[in-house]
Amino acid sequence: MKTLILAGGRGTRLFPLSRSHFPKQFLQYFEGESLFQKTLKRALLFSAPDEVTVVTSADHRFLVVDQMKGIGAEGRVLVEPEGKNTLPAVLYGLKDLADTDEPVAVFPSDHLVETDEAYGAAMKVAECLADDYLITFGVTPRSPQTGYGYIRPGAPLDGGYRVDAFVEKPDLRTAERYIAEGFLWNSGMFLFNPRLFLEECRHCMPEALSAFEKPTEEAFRLTPAISVDYGVMERTKRAAVVPLTSAWSDVGSFDAFYALAEKDQKGNVVHGEHLGIDGGDNLIVSDRLVATIGVSEMAIVDTRDVLLVCPKAEAQRVGEVVGTLQRRG
Ligand code: GDD
Ligand code: MG
Repeated sequence: MKTLILAGGRGTRLFPLSRSHFPKQFLQYFEGESLFQKTLKRALLFSAPDEVTVVTSADHRFLVVDQMKGIGAEGRVLVEPEGKNTLPAVLYGLKDLADTDEPVAVFPSDHLVETDEAYGAAMKVAECLADDYLITFGVTPRSPQTGYGYIRPGAPLDGGYRVDAFVEKPDLRTAERYIAEGFLWNSGMFLFNPRLFLEECRHCMPEALSAFEKPTEEAFRLTPAISVDYGVMERTKRAAVVPLTSAWSDVGSFDAFYALAEKDQKGNVVHGEHLGIDGGDNLIVSDRLVATIGVSEMAIVDTRDVLLVCPKAEAQRVGEVVGTLQRRG
């Protein structure tokens, strides 16, 4: 099976650790590895090294190459002339694979997924359905997050379901209703036969597909900037969902980061050195010694130029800081 890894996103949800030039997927805080490196290892469970292609931006190509070397992995790296979101990235990757008729997995690089038995089984089921459906992997929602795609499972298939509806990033009230109605989260991973994907793209996003008949630079100039989710998955009638029960997280906030990491006796997650008198359950990241007295449930993230201090429970509001800074220029 071939795998395309999408590693060109600029998400800043873990600001100030993640920046546009050093986004979340490259932070090496997960057992000393990055989410990108873990994704690569996951890809290598089902693909040979020469079957893995990483699609990234010019800004991140050296990070990608360094981190691949860091885990002794090889693979092809495609550099986009400009970032136009995930659909152009996938079309670029598929064009590079030429006329393969084998199923292709598309992995985001900003997730943690436990590679247990259930994961392997879900991949196998998906592979069997991939000639007839664009496969998504559905995760049972834990809260009404607005940053995910939501999937309504329909008629049962062998190991999965037809997708009755796919809705990308609904508002909070809609997300709450979807959870009550049994929708699943879209994990962000896809698996499909390239022929079927291109056929569906021809129906759903013909402008993007025709752009990629041109040479790469021109293709990226011409194509609309759109994600696979909005461009194809919301519109196609040929999607299926395979439930994924393995632990899954897109580490979208410092709260999630804390929840996933190993804690010390006081419930602190510390990257660096921490002297804590009373208190606990903090996330502390710093190159300096951090001393706290009676501090609990906080995220303290210290970088060269920005120090972030906030209650963990409000950590998802980091976007407000990023937005304010961007407006200030
Ligand atoms: N090469 C390349 N070029 N990669 C990109 C680009 C691009 O222009 N834009 C984003 N990516 C990469 C990101 O690095 C990430 O690994 C992946 O594509 C998904 O993009 P995100 O921007 O992180 O998407 P999202 O998190 O908002 O939403 C997606 O993931 C959710 C789960 O975390 C969607 O698929 C949702 O439906 C899904 O629920
Ligand atoms: Mg993401």
